[in-house]
Amino acid sequence: MDKRGNTVLITGGASGIGLALAECFLNADNTVIICGRRKEKLEEAKQKFKKIHTRICDVSVETDRIELFNWAAAEFPNLNVLINNAGIQQRVNLLAPEEPWTHYDQEIASNFDAPVHLSLLFTPHLIKQHKPSIINISSGLAITPGAWVPIYSATKAALHAFTVSLRIQLADSNVEVIEVLPPAVNTDLGGVGLHTFGASLNDFADSVFGELDSGKQEIGFGGTEERLTVSAAEAKEIAKKMYEGFVKR
Ligand SMILES: NC(=O)c1ccc[n+]([C@@H]2O[C@H](COP(=O)([O-])OP(=O)(O)OC[C@H]3O[C@@H](n4cnc5c(N)ncnc54)[C@H](OP(=O)(O)O)[C@@H]3O)[C@@H](O)[C@H]2O)c1
Repeated sequence: MDKRGNTVLITGGASGIGLALAECFLNADNTVIICGRRKEKLEEAKQKFKKIHTRICDVSVETDRIELFNWAAAEFPNLNVLINNAGIQQRVNLLAPEEPWTHYDQEIASNFDAPVHLSLLFTPHLIKQHKPSIINISSGLAITPGAWVPIYSATKAALHAFTVSLRIQLADSNVEVIEVLPPAVNTDLGGVGLHTFGASLNDFADSVFGELDSGKQEIGFGGTEERLTVSAAEAKEIAKKMYEGFVKR
């Protein structure tokens, strides 16, 4: 993809990785639209970046996704990049699930239903644009599950598989399909203070943005990309060791 002159929609772009990528795109002369559930976070982003466009939207809700597409396609007919970034992360003790199913299902709706449905909604529009791209933000945990966040890891593995299929089906079209696999990055994911051990947000976003025009289909940081080449047996062993480390902490 080209890194300049695009019209980019970033879901969950009012904080964390989404906002850091929004800043990179704005600095490179792109039109940037962000959406999220919290009005105050969108307003904060607008205060910081006057040129950014904002839209309240809960991507876990089907009707919100349809409204987002209809609004974006009407207001920004040249929209050519969709970044499925919005996501939540929940720690789940599978031995003692205490919440109703709607609580767990929210993670599936946000992390999997949303990027899949938005890809389906936007693809016919994107195909008509100049150099269009769909960028899905999955996770290193798509390959080596974090057993402390079991549903989250499963949604990311599913998103990875969907992204592979999407790329294959769009191979003869002009739409580039890119997957970004972040490692732990210092954001508010899962709750304030739970990812402070992660990579620096700006280092991560600068590195990913730097590689977007490289032609790479899967972009990692700090080794997450390499996980795509580990064997299934190695992935299971890594997941087991990561869980032991988590329990010790
Ligand atoms: N940070 C990491 O360590 C890490 C590692 C691997 C992958 N990732 C992935 O990176 C993406 C961004 O996460 P982050 O680390 O930047 O977390 P974050 O700081 O919590 O940001 C997530 C953003 O998504 C928005 N969001 C969540 N649910 C939404 C919904 N239903 N509808 C619309 N917006 C929604 C949130 O805004 P509202 O709450 O206002 O809606 C927030 O702005 C996620 O997909 C995450 O899984 C992160």
